Amino acid sequence: MERPNWAPGDIDLERPSVARVYDYWLGGAHNFAADRAVGQQALEIMPELRDVILNHRSFLRRVVRHLLGMGVRQFLDLGSGIPTVGNVHEIAQSADPAAKIAYVDVDPVAVAHSRSLLSGNERVSVLQADVRDPAAVLTAPEVTGLLDFDEPVAVLMIALLHFVSDEEDPVGIIAGYRDRLAPGSFVAISHAGYEADEETGSYRAARSVYDRGVTPMTYRNGAEFTRLFEGLELVEPGVVRLPAWHPESPDDLGEPGRPFPAFGAVGRKA
Ligand SMILES: C[S@@+](CC[C@H](N)C(=O)[O-])C[C@H]1O[C@@H](n2cnc3c(N)ncnc32)[C@H](O)[C@@H]1O
Repeated sequence: MERPNWAPGDIDLERPSVARVYDYWLGGAHNFAADRAVGQQALEIMPELRDVILNHRSFLRRVVRHLLGMGVRQFLDLGSGIPTVGNVHEIAQSADPAAKIAYVDVDPVAVAHSRSLLSGNERVSVLQADVRDPAAVLTAPEVTGLLDFDEPVAVLMIALLHFVSDEEDPVGIIAGYRDRLAPGSFVAISHAGYEADEETGSYRAARSVYDRGVTPMTYRNGAEFTRLFEGLELVEPGVVRLPAWHPESPDDLGEPGRPFPAFGAVGRKA
């Protein structure tokens, strides 16, 4: 397979990656045949998947706007992905050009593409790191050189933590970030999940395509999702299904139907 010039030399083009499958679902151009094959297979099983993903992106936009309205000007976007339209810096810097954003992802394509897109923007940095190691992220020059942790920072974990298993201690990982934040900072999380009695065969089957082909996922129910906000005060409306978090238009609410299979919430550090 021919390697496009934006693909770093050390990545395996035959092995699907979370970031590139997501890019495919979002209609982006930074994915390979292996990513598209898995992405397509999951979509055939669960056609509503694209709508679920668009809802995570819409939640991200609404959260950033909401937090800008609350005076936040610094964002640490963990598991930021391959940039498409409506990235955090576009939203934040269009409201205030002084806003600062540090992007962090483990995926080499996401990082390389972010760097090339963002070069010249001095209020944005890009770090390649594993977010499960908060100490490494919080001491990296790309983060410490840009963000002032004496001032409020919004930590964004959008469609990320369902790739962190219970054994990897997501609550402890979040605490590693939370403890470094100044009072008045925020943690925003969106997450795949639903209650046990809402599970359908297509949810199970789509997840098993992902577990086998890309990386294992952990769906969490409402109580498990809520536990992620330990040590934080939930901002109104609390833990809700993604479309119900401060919808900005009737479109954000989507079609009424069965409960939406993802949760969203924002916590504030007191
Ligand atoms: C489903 S995508 C979401 C991207 C973006 N947050 C968005 O909402 O559009 C998940 C991203 O998290 C990244 N990711 C997964 N596990 C990670 C880890 N342990 N450390 C850093 N990034 C990770 C993947 O590479 C991918 O880009």
